Amino acid sequence: MPSQNSSRNKVILGLQWGDEGKGKVIDQLAETTDVVVRCQGGANAGHTVVVGGKKTVLHLLPSGVLHPKATCIIGNGVVLEPKALAEELAELAASGCDLRSRLLVSDRAHLVLPCHKALDRTYEAAKGTSKVGTTLRGIGPTYMDKMARTNLRAGDLLQADFPARLRAHLTAQNHLVKALGGDPLDVEAEIAALQPHLAVLKPLVADTAAFLHRAAAQGKTMLFEGAQGVLLDIDYGTYPYVTSSNTGVGGVITGSGLSHKELGEVIGVVKAYTTRVGGGPFPGELDQNAGGKGDEIRVRGGEFGATTGRPRRCGWLDLAAVSFACRLNGVDSIALTKLDILDVEAEIPVCVAYELDGQRLDSVPASISELARVKPVYEVLPGWTTSTVGVSRWQDLPVNAQKYVAFVEKITGVPVKWIGTGPGREATVCR
Ligand code: GDP
Ligand code: IMO
Ligand code: MG
Repeated sequence: MPSQNSSRNKVILGLQWGDEGKGKVIDQLAETTDVVVRCQGGANAGHTVVVGGKKTVLHLLPSGVLHPKATCIIGNGVVLEPKALAEELAELAASGCDLRSRLLVSDRAHLVLPCHKALDRTYEAAKGTSKVGTTLRGIGPTYMDKMARTNLRAGDLLQADFPARLRAHLTAQNHLVKALGGDPLDVEAEIAALQPHLAVLKPLVADTAAFLHRAAAQGKTMLFEGAQGVLLDIDYGTYPYVTSSNTGVGGVITGSGLSHKELGEVIGVVKAYTTRVGGGPFPGELDQNAGGKGDEIRVRGGEFGATTGRPRRCGWLDLAAVSFACRLNGVDSIALTKLDILDVEAEIPVCVAYELDGQRLDSVPASISELARVKPVYEVLPGWTTSTVGVSRWQDLPVNAQKYVAFVEKITGVPVKWIGTGPGREATVCR
């Protein structure tokens, strides 16, 4: 049985390859939320929030930070780089947002240390042309270290033996960097450089699971902020071209310390077309060369990474993949973003299924070589060729835009409750 107040809680997940517009959706929902929780991933995320024309990109901090009443939690499933956290906090403080009194970091969250970033670079270089195209934020090597049961956690900072353990760990990991042919670190210099960042982190460390249990008992409203997207999930994404965490509801449970009974509504964020950044198969990828359709959508949609600035690969909406992500996560409703970017299209193809060797598939294959061979089956919908920019009422959307939304609902079987018509808070249709 769900808990009594879980009906007010919400989980926000990306249902594609990340960058669906989760930041904007979370910022909007956070207005009526007491606690916003990041549960997995790390500073590989780049969540954009635009308020009054001012853009803020959040990497580690939950996207609820701009609402002064929201308590922000970095849960145990997150891998946390002290330097990235300190820099992000300083940047926000410089723009007048000091959230140290309402931010908690789980004592069980694993630390991303300089050796992990060095290993990320080393593994990627060794893979050559088959590199994953990671964000080089040390994410994969930190989760490896976690699973190997050798890493340091935020809570270790509070123990007297932390300096000795840090030195020993950096030294051991440095041997690995050297053995793999990477550039070794100057361990003492790295330890010295870490000190101011660790000093920022230390007072924020807490038992966040206990905090969340108390918040649940007090009937507080919670928002769980997914990072990346379901197609980048370590188990169900396009392995090995994935991130190293569970990006769906499973990651929310293990990464927050709350049970499934507290999760509430699962909202999937879906961009009105598809993007992917980094390597890996992408059924229906459009021509990304200058002047190609993929390039045109990229430029119009401003599809350049919020974390790395890399150009994103673009394609039409892939509802075969989105439906798969909905099934995996019991998605209750969809937030469809960036509808306005399709305004100029006269006709809009939408992928409704995959075919492999002439056979229609009812799922997404596990093998990337099969995925690279699938043929998307498209249905072509008429465009609306009218501006939807800033539209905030359903009845003000052109009929063909309404039909596009209805088509998403028909193929996925999930209601679309929010539609994005621009980057700002106000450019949203709520149904
Ligand atoms: P996230 O990682 O899922 O939070 O998404 P990103 O922030 O990486 O990328 C989404 C981009 O689209 C950001 O630049 C947002 O400001 C922008 N955006 C979000 N929703 C909309 C929308 O409905 N229309 C337009 N034009 N831009 C949007
Ligand atoms: P948000 O939360 C888009 C991608 C990387 C790479 C792969 C592995 O903003 O949606 P990693 O550094 O995690 O080991 O990289 O995952 N990736 C993302 N792509 N949005 C993200 O986050 C991403 N986080 C990681 O580009 O292909
Ligand atoms: Mg992003």
